[in-house]
Amino acid sequence: MEFEGRDIISIKDFTREEIDYILEIAEAMEPIAKKGSDMLKGRILATLFFEPSTRTRLSFEAAMHKLGGSAIGFAEPEITSVRKGENLADTIRVVENYADVIALRHPREGAARLAAEFAKVPIINGGSGGEEHPTQALLDLYTVKKEKGKIDGLSIAMVGDLRFGRTVHSLAYALSLYHVNLYFVSPPLLRMRREVLEAIKGKVNVVETSSLDEVVPDVDVLYVTRIQKERFPDPAEYMKVKGSYRISLETLGNAKQDLIILHPLPRVGEISPEIDNTSHARYFQQVWNGIIVRMALLTLILGAIK
Ligand code: NCD
Repeated sequence: MEFEGRDIISIKDFTREEIDYILEIAEAMEPIAKKGSDMLKGRILATLFFEPSTRTRLSFEAAMHKLGGSAIGFAEPEITSVRKGENLADTIRVVENYADVIALRHPREGAARLAAEFAKVPIINGGSGGEEHPTQALLDLYTVKKEKGKIDGLSIAMVGDLRFGRTVHSLAYALSLYHVNLYFVSPPLLRMRREVLEAIKGKVNVVETSSLDEVVPDVDVLYVTRIQKERFPDPAEYMKVKGSYRISLETLGNAKQDLIILHPLPRVGEISPEIDNTSHARYFQQVWNGIIVRMALLTLILGAIK
């Protein structure tokens, strides 16, 4: 397995063996994340974020600092030369002179792939429009494995916006490499994208439904997502599906006792705060796991761990 110098554009570019190895390295990062280290001393990460972010950008930067490296970048393209009309390819060809690795978030699908074609340094996709968010999928898998002790054999439901939500696309591709049952729960308008369904067909069992109540008793993991308001071409369509699901104590009446609830965050009402103090909630643990997994990725890509 070779990770040094590699781009992370789509989770589809990775085998199960490679993903399992990343999760293994992540586990080894837990103590390092607490103590700090100088494994990446002198190395620089650039975070170029053309779309809002809290967790992804900050956790990449924190991961780099915990490994003794440093981070530069922008979270607001309007204050950079992008405002003057600089295109993505030129921005990348400039920034690669300043950094050893670039994490990019962009509203356009395909942007990360395009950037990787121009860049001499590895590109990590921190979200490409509604398409994919591969590092989120890795931290989601890591969370499931850590909390459940395994991934194989589980029944996992993804709930909410399966059409415009990029995290569920990457997660579905990744989970299709494991022996799991998948439930896709969404309003008909926000069904899982056909391209994802086609890609995972025959690899895992998939049930599509709009009824959350039907699947709650069967699942081990409930992966809840925000309706991606900003990606709707038509605001009237958004109004039709706004607030489709809200997980409350009542929703979980028939749930397994050891059901865990994940959410990539931010949540905007899909999970009632009364859930936060139950044994089901794991969405804030996921945030810590985001640092761990990104530390693993940075050390592998920059060749500090083989
Ligand atoms: C997600 C994203 O940006 O796709 N957030 C994240 O990275 N944790 C989810 C979302 O915005 O709903």
